[in-house]
Amino acid sequence: METVADPAGLNGTLAKRRSAGERIVLVPTMGNLHKGHLSLVRRARESGNYVVATIFVNPFQFGEHEDFGSYPRTLDPDLRQLEAFNCDLVFIPKMKQIYPRGPEQVTRVEVPELSSILCGQQRPGFFRGVATVVNILFNLVRPHAAVFGEKDYQQLLVIRRMVEDLRMGIEILSVQTVREPDGLAMSSRNNYLTPAERAQAPKLYQALEKARDQLRGGDRDFNSVEMRGNEALRAAGLKPDYFAVRRALDLGAPRPDDDPLRVLAAAWLGKARLIDNVAV
Ligand code: PAJ
Repeated sequence: METVADPAGLNGTLAKRRSAGERIVLVPTMGNLHKGHLSLVRRARESGNYVVATIFVNPFQFGEHEDFGSYPRTLDPDLRQLEAFNCDLVFIPKMKQIYPRGPEQVTRVEVPELSSILCGQQRPGFFRGVATVVNILFNLVRPHAAVFGEKDYQQLLVIRRMVEDLRMGIEILSVQTVREPDGLAMSSRNNYLTPAERAQAPKLYQALEKARDQLRGGDRDFNSVEMRGNEALRAAGLKPDYFAVRRALDLGAPRPDDDPLRVLAAAWLGKARLIDNVAV
């Protein structure tokens, strides 16, 4: 496995692979890798013959009072895990290489509507930061395909829309959420939970599953499904940001006969903001 820090080195290696006709598949991450990230690497491996992962904690997608400074950085174990999963190249750029004039000065990519609802409403600027950095990484790596997790379902749709609107010609692959044995979606931010909070955390997924079962059972009163979801989270000691039943394809508010649906939720538990979602 090759490790590259500067874009010039990246270009050299990738140009050779491209002209050899290899299919390059990208897995963008912020590091602190767990089994969720590694399932993306496995998917990339199945889909192509040259797998590139990136590790970059992107300041542009963090709000002023968010956890950019304390976001876990664990480079050595990350590299060992990528190597074990047969990743070919890891790109670990420095801030200056992604944002030579600083994030404030960079040309930005805005996906309207999809970026302003749900997580985007609670975290203004978040999806602008994600779309912008992913665009920069796409332009540096120029992959044939890239892999994203359904765990961040709204992010996945934002990236798909960006690729479609800007005719980027990159195939976007997705991977189901990888969970702990008790159902909690794996996330770097689970590290912020105390043992007592960790024991409560699976309630988020349980509330989503319950809503999914109600919808599958034919309940079309979306408002009351959402109200019961919010109530279940509060009863479990979580502070919900949202609990929403949406159309799976564009996250719009569904009408009773819309299909497929997705139930999405975000909630605070101590210092951690947990997000999760399920397909209906
Ligand atoms: P990060 O949180 O490191 O996640 C990187 C990728 O791993 C994302 O596509 C995310 O959806 C996926 N992922 C995380 N936890 C997962 C789980 N439990 N199961 C399946 N997939 C999971 O998402 C980001 O970084 C950043 O916003 C990024 C796209 C890298 C842009 O900075």
